[in-house]
Amino acid sequence: MVSKPEIPVQRLPREAYVSEEWLEREKKELFSKSWVFAGVVMDFPESGDYCTVQVGHHSLIVIKDGEGELKAYHNICRHRGTELLEGKGNSGRFIMCPYHNWVYDLGGGLRELPAAKACFPDMDKKGVSLLPASVGIFENLVFVNPEGGANFNSWLSGLDQIAWPHNIASDALEESPEDIIYELQCNWKVFAENALDGYHLAYLHKETLGGPLHDKNIWEAFGQHLVWWSTEREGVKHRIPQFVEKSSKGSGLKTVKGAEMPGYGGVYVLFPTTFITPNPWGFTVSTLEPLDANTTLMKVRNWAPKGWLSYSFRAKDIPGYDKASGLIKSSHWTKHPLETGDFQTEDIWVCEKMQRALQSPHHSVIFLAKGSGGEAALDFFQQRILDLMPL
Ligand code: FES
Ligand SMILES: [Fe+2]
Repeated sequence: MVSKPEIPVQRLPREAYVSEEWLEREKKELFSKSWVFAGVVMDFPESGDYCTVQVGHHSLIVIKDGEGELKAYHNICRHRGTELLEGKGNSGRFIMCPYHNWVYDLGGGLRELPAAKACFPDMDKKGVSLLPASVGIFENLVFVNPEGGANFNSWLSGLDQIAWPHNIASDALEESPEDIIYELQCNWKVFAENALDGYHLAYLHKETLGGPLHDKNIWEAFGQHLVWWSTEREGVKHRIPQFVEKSSKGSGLKTVKGAEMPGYGGVYVLFPTTFITPNPWGFTVSTLEPLDANTTLMKVRNWAPKGWLSYSFRAKDIPGYDKASGLIKSSHWTKHPLETGDFQTEDIWVCEKMQRALQSPHHSVIFLAKGSGGEAALDFFQQRILDLMPL
């Protein structure tokens, strides 16, 4: 359980949530060493299948090599540094830079270059390869880290012992046909800390999650990560609020096999930017990507029992859908957030309210609610940031 310190305190200054200089420091000192969700193993069925991921200042490539292994590289040509790949796709057996056609194999080694003898008479190709980043796989989720040789198991810190029963690679589950992308008018940490706040559940989400109260939910730490449980049922660790369980009864929602039993967590916050909610009706991975100090993209991928996609997210059904951009934005809400019946919309509403208030030099946080089901998890999260970038 998140128990230290006894009385949680706000450790980050106001600037951490509003200043571009602070975000710049985060990019250099935090994100350059962070494991970030890149996709799932099913995104890479064939060799040459790739995706690109932006992690702070780092543009990274995750690609399946000829042996069926996932590899991660910096998306930088070793000639004059052009970005090699964009978006996602299949590169074939090689990665070719579009500028002067240098060709790399999927293991990252430089294989060919035009006019090699004439233009680079002294070059030893063997010594030239793409800069390695690191890749790790956990429960079919693929993570990347800009640092080569980063230790994925040490980052997992025992999470593999308490993972969910959902197998997203199995035939029993299928992914929604579209990613949902929110453009949030708040700092990424404002949204992250809201997700870690066990004190607000019974109040802001009175009509949607209906709790639990501060003493009926807990966050437990695993390394840098935090996992949430409801303890409303005589202390048994459960993954959904009792109110939600009750209101879902008779809804006819199809459940994921094995996901009804208690034990595994309801929310996994994988430090710093990955949020996983495995529930009896599906499985969701959300990631936060700061656009600037005051704006964040949240990308959501969702899985549900096969044949049950009517349950899963559709962007157009979400409050704030902007047809022109395809993004979900508060500027496109058509009714009051508290009337949507959607707890995510309720969260976005308060996070954006907090971000506006944070612009004032009078903004301060003096009190945080005690207890791991209060606001102690915010203190814990802020400490993990300060571990990497001390004040
Ligand atoms: S920059 Fe890539 S081949 Fe020249
Ligand atoms: Fe919330």
